[in-house]
Amino acid sequence: MRELVIVGAGGFGREAAWMVERINAAAPQFELIGFCDDAADKREGQCGGYPLLGPLSGMKAHRGTVGFFCAIGNNRVRQEVMAEGRALGLEPVSLIDPGAVIAPDVEIGRGSFVGIGSVVSVGASLGEGVLVNHQVCVGHDAQIGDFAQLCPGVCVSGGCVIGEGALLGTLAGTIPLKRVGAWATLGAGSVALKDVADGAAVVRLTR
Ligand SMILES: CC(C)(COP(=O)(O)OP(=O)(O)OC[C@H]1O[C@@H](n2cnc3c(N)ncnc32)[C@H](O)[C@@H]1OP(=O)(O)O)[C@@H](O)C(=O)NCCC(=O)NCCS
Repeated sequence: MRELVIVGAGGFGREAAWMVERINAAAPQFELIGFCDDAADKREGQCGGYPLLGPLSGMKAHRGTVGFFCAIGNNRVRQEVMAEGRALGLEPVSLIDPGAVIAPDVEIGRGSFVGIGSVVSVGASLGEGVLVNHQVCVGHDAQIGDFAQLCPGVCVSGGCVIGEGALLGTLAGTIPLKRVGAWATLGAGSVALKDVADGAAVVRLTR
């Protein structure tokens, strides 16, 4: 059993704890020792039935033994906190729900998340710190960059490239072979019919 802390004692953090429980129910992997959070009101007590352990910096003594999952939805902040965890000598761990369906050749970077009912098809790849929420479809050969986030119900079609840190809102999608640029936002319910530039924020159908 691998010792694990979840960073971020919010709603996503509690959801990540639930994923850990679901993973362990399928095949025991993790001992969830608690949550790290530096918010003044989340440094002691409990969250979701697990202890609050204080700021991540306090885990330095556990370098080399404890893994961490960063349950912070903001892509920039998640990137920064994952760098902090690494600098402390902690290893980012991915949480892949047993109810996700992932083709055998898919590559998934460390510290990523794949939720319930999501499908990641052949030849696809997920970078590090990628969030694939529940009921997301990642088409064949799609590449999802580091720290990108696919919100619930997103459909990324085959061969698309989603840039580092990009956010695809709930029920957003792309037609095949399109690129969503680095740190771009595709709004909830919006479908990218053409490429989205780096850093752009687009909503509704883009044509
Ligand atoms: C695109 C988005 C980032 C814009 O956020 P924002 O900059 O705060 O924009 P605002 O809420 O001020 O809205 C600005 C205008 O765009 C419209 N708009 C916002 N998001 C839209 C969307 N997804 N589709 C269509 N129109 C949208 C608003 O109605 C508003 O129009 P108005 O000026 O005519 O009133 C945000 O609306 C969004 O879609 N985020 C996705 C979040 C998500 O899915 N999270 C799930 C987490 S699991």
